[in-house]
Amino acid sequence: MARPKIALIGAGQIGGTLAHLAALKELGDVVLFDIAEGTPEGKALDIAESGPSGKFDAALSGTQSYEDIAGADVCIVTAGVPRKPGMSRDDLLGINLKVMKSVGEGIRDHAPNAFVICITNPLDAMVWALREFSGLPHEKVCGMAGVLDSARFRHFLASEFDVSMKDVTAFVLGGHGDTMVPLVRYSTVAGIPLPDLVKMGWTTQEKLDAIVQRTRDGGAEIVGLLKTGSAFYAPATSAIEMAESYLKDQKRVLPCAAYVEGAYGLKGFYVGVPTVIGAGGIERVVEISMDKDEQAMFDNSVSAVKGLVEACKGIDNTLA
Ligand code: APR
Repeated sequence: MARPKIALIGAGQIGGTLAHLAALKELGDVVLFDIAEGTPEGKALDIAESGPSGKFDAALSGTQSYEDIAGADVCIVTAGVPRKPGMSRDDLLGINLKVMKSVGEGIRDHAPNAFVICITNPLDAMVWALREFSGLPHEKVCGMAGVLDSARFRHFLASEFDVSMKDVTAFVLGGHGDTMVPLVRYSTVAGIPLPDLVKMGWTTQEKLDAIVQRTRDGGAEIVGLLKTGSAFYAPATSAIEMAESYLKDQKRVLPCAAYVEGAYGLKGFYVGVPTVIGAGGIERVVEISMDKDEQAMFDNSVSAVKGLVEACKGIDNTLA
């Protein structure tokens, strides 16, 4: 059987890391697409040349032509510009919306059966716009944010408790931005919810609150350190986890920016929710119950995303 085909739209920091991870994990053959001439070709060749030592079988190529993504099983979109220090994800809106238009049309024309994972920021608005421009079924277009946000949360919690990250689960809902909602009640160490761990003296409420805030600011912390761009290792690893779940029909329960129709009181809207990812794409949206405070944080996050979607419609009236 032929290997799956993975198209990476954008061959920058995240795109290159995605290609390397996809090859190392032998998820399929990789096509890197970018408007910058030479960049996707150079990265593809460099990674291919790591194959003999890395011991993987995968073909890699680079291109400036959408024709080369034809028949892709998965498209992961990072095309656009990343944040610089002092910028919020929302500051990227106008520039990246134009990029989503060309990418969405390219996918529509050449890879309409692909499972599409958007990473470009501001994520929740860009995944919505990408779906609109591509016209693909909603369950085949999603955004990577929740896996990354919860990975950051899990990393901070594991260091606080001095336990393996494998035994820490974390739950993050809402948009990928300052209004994201890390749900403490549903986050655990080996099944023990965080509020119980506070009672057991493993940490204090103050420390937990600080970790929640650090999770919300996780992207900005990296931007502040790197100064020339934004995070790429953890975002790429998170998207690969989602792509693998689709390609292998793993039916992982992963938080991602998904189209929500009915659940959470939403009528056709992209926002971060727990989902089941399998061969059908986003096969299910998992609806959890929230207490009053959690609901208020979620509502706040949803209205921030709604504001961005409205701003997109203002910029490009074909979306209105
Ligand atoms: N089509 C294809 N590629 C494009 C286009 C376009 N219209 N416009 C820009 N690009 C390419 C750039 O040439 C660059 O190689 O997108 C790539 C983006 O790579 P980086 O600048 O290295 O950004 P990266 O760190 O990979 O982040 C990409 O993901 O997390 C988000 O906020 C981040 O929106 C940003 C995106």
